[in-house]
Amino acid sequence: MLTFGGFFFTDQMMLNKLPVVEDDGLITPEVGSWAEYKYRLVWNYAKVFSSSMKSKWDSLVYIDLFAGAGHSKIEGTSRIIPSSPLLSLELPDKFNKYIFCDSDSEKLNVLKKRVNRNYSSHDVSYVEGDVNDNVHNIFSHIPMHSKDVKVLSFCFVDPYRMKNLHFNTIKKLSEKFIDFLILIPSYMDANRNLTYYINESNSTIEDFTGSLKWRENWLLAEKERLKFGTFVAGVFGDEMGKLRYIYSGLSDMDLVRSHDKNLPLYHMSFFSRHKLGYKFWKETRTYSNDQLNFL
Ligand SMILES: C[S@@+](CC[C@H](N)C(=O)[O-])C[C@H]1O[C@@H](n2cnc3c(N)ncnc32)[C@H](O)[C@@H]1O
Repeated sequence: MLTFGGFFFTDQMMLNKLPVVEDDGLITPEVGSWAEYKYRLVWNYAKVFSSSMKSKWDSLVYIDLFAGAGHSKIEGTSRIIPSSPLLSLELPDKFNKYIFCDSDSEKLNVLKKRVNRNYSSHDVSYVEGDVNDNVHNIFSHIPMHSKDVKVLSFCFVDPYRMKNLHFNTIKKLSEKFIDFLILIPSYMDANRNLTYYINESNSTIEDFTGSLKWRENWLLAEKERLKFGTFVAGVFGDEMGKLRYIYSGLSDMDLVRSHDKNLPLYHMSFFSRHKLGYKFWKETRTYSNDQLNFL
């Protein structure tokens, strides 16, 4: 057992192997095997967050901005695992409220079926549509914070590509007490499509990072031979810093690589305004590590 930040971390709090579920015949998107690390990160962080914060806050809220259908099949195998929204429901200490968003109505309906089947006692709300147009709708489901009712949220942000997420959405959400775990599609999108994004008429990087100065900064970074994917992750982190989130550099992020060719894919980044969140994040990264989980 480890003590950390005044809390106890036991094998039961971390180090979980992901559960396997039966094929229920409903929509089950395929994901690469590297997605398992992402799932362990969100599951382990949600677990330590809900267990440690329940005595300090009156209401804990889990928000999944890009929730998907609830099950994922690992490519090239017959293994089906619960994905982020169902993992967040499968915790020893429940959140008081869950908010699941997705623009795909078919996936959201399948998610509802899966939630109702096994987690009917949890308080779940669904927001259908583009998250960037629906922050007011998300807000309407978050309990009102007051001096008598303290509300803390944890938000998982898992877009396919940069154009799915506008920085302004994160900025608006950050008006609440909220920690973020954000997948930055740095290599699988930004780096791969560099020539497209640096076109003067393309606003994707500006919309995704919220930075108006990224073009002039990129000219400098390029001279220092920085990869565009790494540059974009850094710009995103810097802009989170401007929202008073603690950002001390890329070492706080995990660059996740493909298992077959070891190619960089995306950065998993965590943002909180409190140091304790980073202690939890550091532990989560250690205990979600692939090697430990393959033992
Ligand atoms: C990478 S998947 C995330 C799946 C899920 N987090 C998981 O654990 O498997 C991205 C999801 O976001 C949805 N999506 C894409 N753009 C969106 C947007 N602008 N607003 C809301 N949902 C969006 C897609 O329908 C898809 O289900």
